[in-house]
Amino acid sequence: MCGIVGYTGDKHAAPILLAGLGKLEYRGYDSAGIAVIENKSITVKKTKGRLSALRDMIESEEALKSNCGIGHTRWATHGEPSDSNAHPHLSHSGRVAVVHNGIVENYMALRDFLLGHGYTFQSETDTEIVSQLLDYCYHGDPLGAAREAMHMLEGSFALGILFSDFPRMIIAARKDSPLVVGLGDHENFIASDIPALLKHTRRVLRLQERELAVVTPEEVVVYDRQGDVTEKTSETVTWDVSSAEKGGYRHFMIKEIMEQPRALRDTINPRIRAGRVTLELKNIGDDFFQSLTHIQIVACGSAWHVGCIAKLMLQDMLRVPVHCELASEFRYSNPMIHDQTLCVVISQSGETIDTLFALREARSRGAKVLSIVNVVGSTIVNESDDVLYTWAGPEIAVATTKAYNTQLGVFYLIALYMADLRGRIDTAGYSAAIDGLRALPDKAQGLLQDHTHIQQMANRYFNQGDIFFMGRNLDYALALEGSLKLKEISYIHSEAYAAGELKHGTISLIEPGTLVVALCTNMKLLEKMIGNTREVKARGADVIAIAQEGAPGIEEVADHMIWLPAGEPFTLPSLSVLPLQLFAYYIALEKGCDIDKPSNLA
Ligand code: F6R
Repeated sequence: MCGIVGYTGDKHAAPILLAGLGKLEYRGYDSAGIAVIENKSITVKKTKGRLSALRDMIESEEALKSNCGIGHTRWATHGEPSDSNAHPHLSHSGRVAVVHNGIVENYMALRDFLLGHGYTFQSETDTEIVSQLLDYCYHGDPLGAAREAMHMLEGSFALGILFSDFPRMIIAARKDSPLVVGLGDHENFIASDIPALLKHTRRVLRLQERELAVVTPEEVVVYDRQGDVTEKTSETVTWDVSSAEKGGYRHFMIKEIMEQPRALRDTINPRIRAGRVTLELKNIGDDFFQSLTHIQIVACGSAWHVGCIAKLMLQDMLRVPVHCELASEFRYSNPMIHDQTLCVVISQSGETIDTLFALREARSRGAKVLSIVNVVGSTIVNESDDVLYTWAGPEIAVATTKAYNTQLGVFYLIALYMADLRGRIDTAGYSAAIDGLRALPDKAQGLLQDHTHIQQMANRYFNQGDIFFMGRNLDYALALEGSLKLKEISYIHSEAYAAGELKHGTISLIEPGTLVVALCTNMKLLEKMIGNTREVKARGADVIAIAQEGAPGIEEVADHMIWLPAGEPFTLPSLSVLPLQLFAYYIALEKGCDIDKPSNLA
């Protein structure tokens, strides 16, 4: 999500750090900063805005004479983009500076703990907690302090740490967030991503889970999670800079598809504390969640498809009327909303103009607005009563994938939270749902491990003129997303149908060889979907069916199967969408399309 660099050697650190950050700006760009050590004192320069603002601030990079430092380019999670929230964060004693990627899940508890020990805070970030915690743990032994702090941190982190008493040393540590060490000649580097290093070295060590590295110009010592020194073999990077930015993938879209387990983990896990959902809301209280009589969802495109799923899920779990409307239509519909309406606005960018106008319309009619947004501090956030962020990180491919899935993740949390408050779920159901949520990122990871079969299907069908998607209930909403994803990047004409509607007209479009993707993930509707599949088969269609493992009867009628792991139906859409995204991606790849930048879309 954010970008980290670090340098220790004989050269001036600042220009190297700034150049490295330049290669990572695609990872985050709302603020940037560096910290360098000189004469056992740490100097921090940081500012809101793009890296150019930091460059302007450091008028003469040469003036910072240090040979050791760390740098960061930020994509805000905790706290809006601002000078004080920018990294690096210095401990209040000035002895420790930290740059951080990831999310500290127990930061509220640690903050209280540190406040109790007299620490004060300058920022709203979870990262400042880490610098103060390291300061608290430090008694002359930086490695010991880093180990102790790592044990106390929950969540994900990649850390670059400076201790003013050790002016040539960087400590690097990671858990669930990548970090590499670059090996040079009498100089060494750290980076969250390889592009930051390639100008200087192609020899890298990848840190593994809970490993910690002590990096000086002369050597790099890596410790495993037990605290023992571990021998690591360096690898030589052969990629060019542009593929390195994509983490070795051919396109940002596939990289972002593969990031979904991490994005789901970051979005969901911090909001489950001691087996209960906690939502970081400031202005919309539990009393309103209890008393509201209507929920109105507004969004555009894929975000609207998320809303279609959320409508069915919330209505089913809460037994409250829920409407989901396209933001571009909502304003003209003289909507029936009032002061007991919760309006949920969904937007990756937080800047989509139709969604913003729908938000204003809802507020002007007295609704409370809760937004689900990926970009911290965006206009939609500023105009909402409250926000729940998706922590997907920057989405660079035009076609949304990880933001879509994390929006679903936020809705699962909202649904569970409200169902509990309104007495609509019993204890057993609640803890089963929590278990389902916790298991989701790993299930997504399992599903993404091998997709050769999807690639083979794409290889077979990429020449189709039309592709249809069909499903019922949640699967219909997913069909809409599968169809949009396919047409926007492959330019193949595609439509999604509620499977029961086929016989009211669409079925006349099915000819021998037409491809139909049948979403059959709902076990209660399986029989119906098998019936619809037979109908299109009878007209000569080829059918790819997506179903839960063990679903009886569907394999006999479909031509190709994509199986999903069986499990909690409530979180299934996050898994069902993965093969749809991959199918669209591989079809577009076969067709040689410009996948990350489809025509006419921005
Ligand atoms: C499709 C896609 C778009 C967006 C839509 C809303 O892949 O990305 O349909 O979902 O333009 O954008 P946001 O979420 O930024 O409001």
